[in-house]
Amino acid sequence: MQVDLGSLSFAEGGYLLVKRAVRRAASGDAIVVTADAADLDVDLRAWCRVEGHRFDWQPGAGTARGQARIVTGAIESERWAGARRATGDGEADEDTIAEHPPRSWGLAARGATIEAGTPDFDFHLTDKIEVWSDDAARIYQQAVAAQWDPETAIPWNAAFELADDLEDAVVQVMTYLIENETAALIVPSRFIAQLHPHFREVMQVLAIQAADEARHIEVFTRRARLKRSQLGRSTIGGQVSLKTLVEEPEFAIASFLLSVLGEGTFLSLLWFIERYAPDPVTATVVRLAAQDEARHVAFGLAHLGQHLEREPGFRPRLADAVRRRHDALRHTAGLNDEVFDALLLMAAGSWDHDALRLGSQRVLQLMQDMDEGRRKRLVRLGFPEADAAALSALHTRNFM
Ligand SMILES: [Fe+2]
Ligand SMILES: [Fe+2]
Repeated sequence: MQVDLGSLSFAEGGYLLVKRAVRRAASGDAIVVTADAADLDVDLRAWCRVEGHRFDWQPGAGTARGQARIVTGAIESERWAGARRATGDGEADEDTIAEHPPRSWGLAARGATIEAGTPDFDFHLTDKIEVWSDDAARIYQQAVAAQWDPETAIPWNAAFELADDLEDAVVQVMTYLIENETAALIVPSRFIAQLHPHFREVMQVLAIQAADEARHIEVFTRRARLKRSQLGRSTIGGQVSLKTLVEEPEFAIASFLLSVLGEGTFLSLLWFIERYAPDPVTATVVRLAAQDEARHVAFGLAHLGQHLEREPGFRPRLADAVRRRHDALRHTAGLNDEVFDALLLMAAGSWDHDALRLGSQRVLQLMQDMDEGRRKRLVRLGFPEADAAALSALHTRNFM
């Protein structure tokens, strides 16, 4: 093999040509290197010593330049001898997902060739069955395409003036929503840091879900402060309920409680607020948030559905989680009265007796819609109707 660097100096990039030749050669092959530069023998000799190749300088006769002769060593090939491809079966394309990717694959891109001996990372979520969904890539793409800009998507400058009580009600509902959105941001964020990056699409779905919640927090805060300088109330019952979510250590269970039951219930709530919103800003912020929530619910259903298909024995553990959470919250009020009253007033639209009666019926209908939605999703996850009804009834009164 022959490499002529011509006027290109070794340090300038000539070394890349030599390196390429070495990589193509087998261990023990000879490569002849020539160049115009006078210091080729110095640079190349030093490089060969570091890289483990034998180097001989053959001086030219008379004024002719000499040439270098390299005999390639085995270091390059040996260094990569124990390398593995970070794919499901070590050989197939990068989209083959491993059942239990080793922690030593670390942050390497799926499909990359990984040098043997890379350090273990402390990932806790390393089992495909617990986290994976074949729908993750599609859901992520949808989420990316559906991102909206709070600045332009919401008619912040729309002219409206609500009666004081009604504005108070909106501010209270927004205060409650912000608190719940904060839990919904923290839960996926916590698990991103524990997830093996081999499950790239799941990591991306969780990341964009957290970004969605960040936007929800922004727009609900802006609506709350549109006409007021002070926000509404936060109660012990609400916070205790959310604390059980934020502290749930197991991904699949947290996802079940948050995405399937909590965000599922929130879909009904957000649609309700949109329907009875007294102003266009309130209607728009909840409508946009509900679009995002529908995806969060879809991902929860997708990966849990796939999980349960492969491990039906996991279903009773999900049911236990609902019962445990219910027991833990037994002595708390759940939804604060202020939120309930604010929803009723919003749905009534005024203090008129007939309006209040109607508002009250609408809130009752909301509770039924929420329950129906939860039962439907539980049935989709394979729970028998009766179990679904019983579990739905045990869901937190705080909704999320
Ligand atoms: Fe949200
Ligand atoms: Fe969400």
